Amino acid sequence: MNSANRQWRLASYPDGMPAEDNWDISEGPIPEAGLETVLVKAIYLDVAPYMRGRISPQQNYTAGVRPGDLMVGGAIGQVVDSKADDYPVGQLVVTSNFGWQEYAVLKPTTMRKVDAEIAPLPCWFDFMGTNGVTAYFGLVEVGGMKAGDTVVISAAAGSVGQIAGQIAKLSGCRVIAITSSEQKLARCRQIGYDDGINYRTGFVRRHCWSMSRRS
Ligand SMILES: NC(=O)c1ccc[n+]([C@@H]2O[C@H](COP(=O)([O-])OP(=O)(O)OC[C@H]3O[C@@H](n4cnc5c(N)ncnc54)[C@H](OP(=O)(O)O)[C@@H]3O)[C@@H](O)[C@H]2O)c1
Repeated sequence: MNSANRQWRLASYPDGMPAEDNWDISEGPIPEAGLETVLVKAIYLDVAPYMRGRISPQQNYTAGVRPGDLMVGGAIGQVVDSKADDYPVGQLVVTSNFGWQEYAVLKPTTMRKVDAEIAPLPCWFDFMGTNGVTAYFGLVEVGGMKAGDTVVISAAAGSVGQIAGQIAKLSGCRVIAITSSEQKLARCRQIGYDDGINYRTGFVRRHCWSMSRRS
């Protein structure tokens, strides 16, 4: 095991595209697992579109990262010390609450077990991770989707939308994409959407634009 915990902290808010010098690397002590927690060593750190909103001084739907703070993010890692039942040393886990660092102490309630036999490790950030869970529970539990339904998905070419479209199709639904370009629509059709609307040129723009001009 390393003797230090490398951490990436936000150095400054980016102006436009983030660049490497918006983060500083520093070393801190490796934390110790306490009662009912485990020490996890990261194998993969997550880099995802939602992070752009977090590294902005503008208000967002959740607290942002301020200069000097540890960068937020998920990780796939391995338990290297354990004081929690059910999470032995060697267990692979995924969490959305790790931070850009090599080691973190986690409670079992903040992570899920990873089975690399079911899907390769990086997939646990994607369709096996929060993107997939959001799409699945949004459609099945919140939306009550049933076979034969027509399912319309906005942000259809986004990371959740692409998975939601495929789950709906596999569940026997007719699936319609709403997105912003012909290229994104083509991608949606390629992964199984039955049809789609480009809201910049299609029905939505024609009808909403003419209504807003009338009011
Ligand atoms: N990813 C997750 O695990 C997760 C978890 C919980 C909730 N959510 C929520 O689910 C929704 C979709 O998330 P996602 O992760 O799929 O997002 P994403 O991959 O970043 O896709 C977002 C899509 O939203 C559309 N969009 C419309 N107006 C936008 C704007 N002003 N700026 C940026 N994008 C804009 C864009 O599609 P068009 O170009 O087609 O308009 C874009 O591709 C979000 O509301 C997110 O907060 C996501």
